[in-house]
Formats: sequence, C-alpha cells, structure tokens
Amino acid sequence: MTAGLYPVRNILILHGPNLNMLGSREPEIYGSATLAEIDRNLAHLAEQDGVNLTAFQSNAEGELIDRIQKAATDGVDFIIINPAAYTHTSIALRDALAAARLPFIEVHLSNIFARESFRRESYFSDLALGVISGLGAQGYELALRYALAMR
Ligand code: DQA
Repeated sequence: MTAGLYPVRNILILHGPNLNMLGSREPEIYGSATLAEIDRNLAHLAEQDGVNLTAFQSNAEGELIDRIQKAATDGVDFIIINPAAYTHTSIALRDALAAARLPFIEVHLSNIFARESFRRESYFSDLALGVISGLGAQGYELALRYALAMR
C-alpha cells in the first residue's frame, strides 16, 4: 500500500482483554498510561488530521468479533488492534479480520518475542500490514501515524 493512494477516513482501534486495566496492570511490563489516556491521545492526533477514530475495548472474544464484522460494513477503512492474550489463542478473531478484508496493524505494548515462549506465536502477524511490539503506548501512536500518512 502506497501513501496517498488509500482513503483512510475512519479508523477503528481495538483493544483486547485486560487492556482496560492498563495503568495498574503490571506497569513494569505495560507502562503507566491508562487506556483512556492512550485513546485520548490517539483521538487528538486523528482529529488534527480530520480523520474519525473509534476505540473499542472488550474482554470478550465474541464482542471483538462482532465489532470487526460491523467494521466491514460501517465504513471503517483501517484497524489498529492489540488482541492482547487473544493474539496467541484466537483463530476466530483472526478469521474475522481475514473476512473483513481491511488493512490492520497489530500492536503490542510489550515485546512479545522477549517474554514467555507462548507469546511468540501470533495468529495475526501474517495477515497484518505490519506489527509493532515492545514500544509501549507509543506503538499505537506510530501505527496511527502510519495510517494517517497513507492517505
Ligand atoms: C500484549 C501482549 C500479550 O501477550 C498479553 O497477553 C497482553 C498484552 C501487549 O500489549 O504487550 O495482554 O498484547
């Protein structure tokens, strides 16, 4: 995908399970920013560029799948997703993204390759446009800046 050729007008940020606990959840691994702070920063950046941004967090696999299915029909052009623990387990969430046929970037706050071996496997990375892992909350921002630069 080349900058300037892709119409990114509506971006969906998806956060998987336990990311609602950011700020207090293992801050030595995930940082001290809360999810609300991360989403607020992203919304601000998108607004400056005149792009609509919606953020959705769920601890339930089915709710995330429902949101992706809806994205395919409600004008979302681009997804930034941190599937959290579902990264390593959810074929169903992978299938939903494959069916949606929307470009997405996979983001992880921590470096999933530098942790337990079960975190090294992702059901998403081969479908993703790109993967950002280990750059903390800034990873979401970099993903968003990439999506904004594609327009
Ligand atoms: C995570 C990494 C996952 O392994 C973990 O289950 C998470 C968060 C991250 O952002 O670093 O919940 O996706």
